[in-house]
Amino acid sequence: MKTLVIVAHPHLNEGSRANLKKVEALKAQPEITVHSLYESYPNWAINVKQEQQLLLAHERIVLQFPLYWYSVPPLLKKWFDDVMEYGWAFGSNGVQLKGKQFILAISAGGGKADYRAGGYDWFSMSEYMKPWQATIARCNGTFLPSWETYDADQASEGQLEQDALAYVQYIQDESLENYSL
Ligand SMILES: Cc1cc2nc3c(=O)[nH]c(=O)nc-3n(C[C@H](O)[C@H](O)[C@H](O)COP(=O)(O)O)c2cc1C
Repeated sequence: MKTLVIVAHPHLNEGSRANLKKVEALKAQPEITVHSLYESYPNWAINVKQEQQLLLAHERIVLQFPLYWYSVPPLLKKWFDDVMEYGWAFGSNGVQLKGKQFILAISAGGGKADYRAGGYDWFSMSEYMKPWQATIARCNGTFLPSWETYDADQASEGQLEQDALAYVQYIQDESLENYSL
């Protein structure tokens, strides 16, 4: 399956651990395209047509990012705003993403047990990600279960390496699409 990983980390090469480990593991997979938004668009002028072509050329799209204030980093929000155009991604005749599979790959400083009712972060990751699930559904995409890396700031290099390898396997798992049935 042709897979595109869109990475949205403002400091991928200056301070990231969890997301950089994932990118390093992905680079050993020549069949996966890795596209780093903050590196491609340092001035935030997103090339909409180029982004749309990239989406069209792949069947599975992974959006990989660190959780910032229970949401996505701002350039990824802008990417949605710019790329998901009316008449292309949604609205009348906006069916270009029909059948495309989307996976969120989130790293969080908090722990898994924190992300639940009554926990330190109050709500589950699924609850925080609802706007993106709805956006992808509105844009005719298929939203597959997310990959979540917790305790990202506390984890050892070895733990992050294991996580990255398991992540690379996960996003290539064709049986994931059965979850959407
Ligand atoms: C501006 C900012 C906001 C953050 N917000 C959250 C948050 O809401 N919840 C959380 O668990 N971690 C939060 N974090 C921690 C990051 O998610 C964590 O440092 C990151 O996922 C680690 O990945 P990295 O090593 O690739 O940077 C935040 C970090 C920053 C810099």
